[in-house]
Amino acid sequence: VPGPTSLDMARGFRSIRADPLSFLSAVSELYGDLVSFPVPGAPALLLNDPEAVRHVLQTSARGWGKDTVQYAALARVTGPGLLASAEPSWIDHRRLAAPAFHHQPLEAVGEQVRAAARSAVGVRLPVAVGAGGGTGVVDVAALTHTIGLDAVGRALFSADLSGQAQTLLDATSDAAELVVRLGRAILPRAHWTPTRLNVRLRSARRRLDTASAEIIAQRRARNGRASTAPHGDDLLGLLLDSGLTDAEVRDELVTMIVAGHETVAASLAWTFMLLAEHPEVQDRTRAELAAHPGPVSLVATREALPWTRAVIDEALRLFPPAWALSRRSLRDDVVAGHDVPAGTLAIISPWLVHRRPDPWTAPLAFRPERFLDPGAGRTAYLPFGQGPRLCIGREFALGEMVMVLDEVLREHRLDVPEGWSRPEPQARVAVHPRGGMPLLVTRLDRA
Ligand code: HEM
Repeated sequence: VPGPTSLDMARGFRSIRADPLSFLSAVSELYGDLVSFPVPGAPALLLNDPEAVRHVLQTSARGWGKDTVQYAALARVTGPGLLASAEPSWIDHRRLAAPAFHHQPLEAVGEQVRAAARSAVGVRLPVAVGAGGGTGVVDVAALTHTIGLDAVGRALFSADLSGQAQTLLDATSDAAELVVRLGRAILPRAHWTPTRLNVRLRSARRRLDTASAEIIAQRRARNGRASTAPHGDDLLGLLLDSGLTDAEVRDELVTMIVAGHETVAASLAWTFMLLAEHPEVQDRTRAELAAHPGPVSLVATREALPWTRAVIDEALRLFPPAWALSRRSLRDDVVAGHDVPAGTLAIISPWLVHRRPDPWTAPLAFRPERFLDPGAGRTAYLPFGQGPRLCIGREFALGEMVMVLDEVLREHRLDVPEGWSRPEPQARVAVHPRGGMPLLVTRLDRA
């Protein structure tokens, strides 16, 4: 399998660390759909062919585990929560958490998500745009982070996280940065040495631990003396009633906080950017949302709002927050016609797969209409992963994005500010706009 040599890697080391997305794009352009990396120990392959990707994530998923440097780094923050854990504990925890993400419970928490969006929009946008007569430049990435965290708290834990919001946002942001630095290391690093990285990581984890312990304690206190009474059917209630230890509940809470808000926040920031750059798409989205009878539900949004959902699908194609997934083969296998020994590392980048000219003609263009045909390009589309480890929060995230667009676009127009240049994509745990997403926001009632 072709790929860069050790010398190439050593030469490009700094740029790989600084900008892994450009590095991955460059090697796949140079070497094709299957690229081999010269790392010590087991072989490492970048898979960019949709069939090979499906083989690893779906068809042969049982033969590929999550014992990778990337997930080991994440587990330093989340513990063995749902995202980072491996069989056999994973399947038990997935079964426990899944009912909270079924259609009916999601329908029931829709109003909580809307309230999270409404309160952040109400607090942040008028403050920012008020003084200038209804127009101002706002960092919409900060807005979407606030909404993302608040929505997870209200809808999945029935908790008001406003008291802990800044701690949680700072700690997840620190953890995200450090996890990526650790994940980029080729060899696992020692946990116990007092390096600056380890000290900062421990501090981020401690802050997340404390906040999660408070959330759990508040819920227990709310249940009062009847400690055996059920805690309710939101996610936190299911976890507390399941017999998991407090440490296990904590791991799942931190996992949901990290996986559930960074990703949605980044996706929304990129979606707002694309809408600001394409006023005609923005107008059509606003018109569809305005024509929707009654409040938008958190579920079944594709049927109710096909254009808005196509906009979101296309934004997730161009800016998939989960830019790299990794797996390690548990046994010998054959991938794309090549024998692959047990222990092989597979790196799969939705960022690259979504930019393939086949099936995505003009892959860099923002064309929501591609997704009006429900089958289009689906073989090469995986913003939420594929197979048994598919994102558990997929429907929640998509519904939340629709609701936030509804709340923002109803009363505001988004434009790019003068002298606009797109923020660079920065690959952290999710792909974020480096330096935020400053957009020109105009209150429509004052425009
Ligand atoms: C898994 C993406 C929102 C919780 C995943 C995976 C991807 C992903 C790609 C699979 C990882 C792999 O196979 O290695 C996204 C994107 C989101 C989003 C793009 C938003 C736009 C959420 C939300 C939650 C969540 C809102 C929870 C509230 C999880 C969990 C897993 C997961 C717990 C692990 C599932 C398992 O392995 O059983 N997500 N996610 N995600 N996601 Fe999401």
